[in-house]
Amino acid sequence: MADHAGMLDEKLDVNEEIVERTAARCRERDIIVPTFAQMKDPSLIPASIREELKGIGLWDVHPRNLFRITWKNDPETGGFGGVNVLEIPRELTGVKARIFGLVGKWFPTGAHKVGASFGCLVPRLVTGAFDPTRQKAVWPSTGNYCRGGAYVSRLLDVGAVAILPEEMSPERFRWLEEIGAEVFATPGCESNVKEIYDKCWELKAERGDDIVIFNQFAEFGNPLWHYEVTASAIAEVLDERLEGRERFWGLVSATGSAGTIGAGERLKELYPWSKVVAAEALQCPTLLRNGYGGHRIEGIGDKHVPWIHNVRNTDVVAAVDDAHPMALIRLFNEPAGRRVLVEAGVPEAFVEKLDLLGISGIGNLVAAIQVARYFELDEDDVIFTIFTDSMELYGSRLEEARAAEGPYTEERARLDLAVHLRHLDTAHVAELGHWDRRRIHNLKYFTWIEQQGMDIAELDAQWRDWRDYWPRHWRMAPVYDRMIEAFNARTGLLEGRG
Ligand SMILES: Cc1ncc(COP(=O)(O)O)c(C=O)c1O
Repeated sequence: MADHAGMLDEKLDVNEEIVERTAARCRERDIIVPTFAQMKDPSLIPASIREELKGIGLWDVHPRNLFRITWKNDPETGGFGGVNVLEIPRELTGVKARIFGLVGKWFPTGAHKVGASFGCLVPRLVTGAFDPTRQKAVWPSTGNYCRGGAYVSRLLDVGAVAILPEEMSPERFRWLEEIGAEVFATPGCESNVKEIYDKCWELKAERGDDIVIFNQFAEFGNPLWHYEVTASAIAEVLDERLEGRERFWGLVSATGSAGTIGAGERLKELYPWSKVVAAEALQCPTLLRNGYGGHRIEGIGDKHVPWIHNVRNTDVVAAVDDAHPMALIRLFNEPAGRRVLVEAGVPEAFVEKLDLLGISGIGNLVAAIQVARYFELDEDDVIFTIFTDSMELYGSRLEEARAAEGPYTEERARLDLAVHLRHLDTAHVAELGHWDRRRIHNLKYFTWIEQQGMDIAELDAQWRDWRDYWPRHWRMAPVYDRMIEAFNARTGLLEGRG
């Protein structure tokens, strides 16, 4: 995929003719593009747009919803509020450290991955490296990224092709069909990403220049969005909520495309002592053991190391047995489970919010607890993690569990609470030394150089010139913002707006 992945950021050539055509189309369809700065701080959005949004539903297919690609949507008012965050009470985690998670449910599409899709598409749109009047956007993914991509494509009036494994939840497929994407189901489950790449190559061979592949595993717009927007949301919560001697310990983030973990790059700049923990499924322990395998934590761990993962900055790997989140979705969502949690002292008002955590969110929570235990963290330590999506996307998984295991009883709930939360062990937490990181970096060779045709000199630069290579990408948001502003000026749609 050397022709369409990766290094757009370096060149920034602008194809004036295509940009002009794209702007004309946006003018016609009333499409205004938000800046990274506005996604971080919605108070920078013109008041007239904020007012308009109050009459537009969170998931509506309306171009103004591009402005809702932010952690600060207020689902009650339709406006913007503080960062959507949940602190997990100690009565639930059983550890002394405070654990917070950003809540992704209130993004349009119900998952934060729409941010990654925006981050990958917009730089090409405003430079003319993608022509929406002629080309379709292809979104290879295990689910939420291609949902985000199909959604952003619809808002920008771009044709979309979604590629995802056939075993992903039926909710994802239904939704993609409804939004009008062309959908390809590839063989296998969550961790069959090679098959997704194969489909990309096949489509490229068939359709050539009629499509552009937005490969989230290799596009720097993906982690850049998290570097800017997600890290800023976390830092804001820390500023507001840290008390006394408390300090930020680190970010725990499962890696799928390794976009979200990009927030850790910025957090390390802001809190240089902090750690970045990559979580993955124990059944597919690629980072922990160069391992492979199928698993049930939808959205993460794909038997390879994404091109955009700065392994130099990952300090710890925590592998999560998928049996934990699969049991906990029942404990957290079945009435008997909730009764047992309240009986165990978890505040009722919090228990009612537990459906804000989807399967990978619960996986992240489990990883955070494992890490808190491993490092013997105490009351002064604060961990941040991410709840990418919510149970809204996994109703079918609960139904399957009910059919396979029968009704959920309080007895079963007490057992699950003990086994899958209270007695989590730390056997699969590993601190990374220099050669552990090098081992993980080296794995990129097989996927990216041998299979996908990326440049070995660039792979070497990721390791040897890491001090320059990664920050060069992280500095791009203000550049894109200026281009977005110039693009909006071309459409003229912001003129006269307050
Ligand atoms: C539900 C879910 N959780 C976690 C992730 C992993 O996030 P990232 O791709 O940013 O590493 C994804 C990615 O698609 C996801 O869909």
